[in-house]
Amino acid sequence: MKTLNVAVIGFGSVGRGVLKVLAEHKGIYGDVEFKVVAICDSKGAVMDKKGLDVENVLKQKSNGDLKRVNKTSIEVINECDYDILVEVTPTDATTGEPGLTYITEALKRGKNVVTSNKGPVALKYKALCDLAKKNNALFLFEATVGGAMPMFNLMRMPLAGNKVTNIMGIFNGTCNYILTRMANEELPYDMVLSEAKELGIAEADPTYDVEGIDTALKVVILANAVFGMDVSLKDVDRVGISSISLESLKLASEAGMVIKLIGEVKPNGEERVLKVSPRLVPKNHPLAVQGTLNAAMIQTKLAGDIFVIGKGAGSVETASAILSDMLYIASIK
Ligand SMILES: NC(=O)c1ccc[n+]([C@@H]2O[C@H](COP(=O)([O-])OP(=O)(O)OC[C@H]3O[C@@H](n4cnc5c(N)ncnc54)[C@H](OP(=O)(O)O)[C@@H]3O)[C@@H](O)[C@H]2O)c1
Repeated sequence: MKTLNVAVIGFGSVGRGVLKVLAEHKGIYGDVEFKVVAICDSKGAVMDKKGLDVENVLKQKSNGDLKRVNKTSIEVINECDYDILVEVTPTDATTGEPGLTYITEALKRGKNVVTSNKGPVALKYKALCDLAKKNNALFLFEATVGGAMPMFNLMRMPLAGNKVTNIMGIFNGTCNYILTRMANEELPYDMVLSEAKELGIAEADPTYDVEGIDTALKVVILANAVFGMDVSLKDVDRVGISSISLESLKLASEAGMVIKLIGEVKPNGEERVLKVSPRLVPKNHPLAVQGTLNAAMIQTKLAGDIFVIGKGAGSVETASAILSDMLYIASIK
């Protein structure tokens, strides 16, 4: 049995998902055992170098009586004995913090890092990969694009040897939910948005989602990680969904189309495309997915067009992507 110590930084929806999934499996996957030795939230840390009783810690967190020790996340990252840092703190698209510092410090120590946090990957992809390489560590971020949908792992192995020529898709479930309900039920944008907020599908401040910033971050991550570009948010042509009218959705429908918020990355020189915009998609096209689903079309030289459809968010769904990265690390470390 190969045992890998895991430190989890961030104990919100995704952190809890990862820990719940690990607890259900007692951390054991075939001949690999993940032992959770530290968990941090914004208020402190719980630690046990022999391995935490994760189920009990989850209960304590939900009851609000987590028995924290007097350590900050950065102290845990710099002092604790772990093999994989699971970094799942909130995304900040402007500074990348606090995740950027956490990931940097862990990589400096030669620790492997798995993150679902788009900020550090979109802002500092190359620097973080270089740091990981220099310190013989792995830096993986499957969960940052498309939640549960396999993207990077799919391109790394099943599509290995293929030249990817274009990626386009629906990478924001909130926008897709709003557009789907507007189209299917002929409801105006403002009404669907308020309902989405009530249901917890949209944030209280939905700007990140509806103005296409979240999708643009994913476009940047794909551009840099898949196509080796060196681009940032300002390089993406971006239009959100806030000015889509019911009238335009109706006209699209009469023509056999739906309107979707599409992110697209195409690398080729002068024809380079980096954009997020509402676009017409035929109703019977695989990208015309409904509700909060995400979908991606990966165009390749050998395999042709590959489609992936799945849940772009959610606690255990995102944990699925994180777990796949952890198991990849276990397979080669
Ligand atoms: N939710 C999804 O479905 C999903 C899907 C894909 C990617 N993501 C990304 O995954 C990340 C986590 O998302 P989430 O939904 O789990 O967020 P969340 O529910 O807001 O949880 C964030 C966690 O980070 C902790 N935290 C905040 N500031 C911190 C700091 N300075 N140091 C240490 N911990 C800190 C919070 O502590 P407290 O508990 O004390 O508040 C909380 O436990 C985000 O970057 C998000 O964009 C989320």
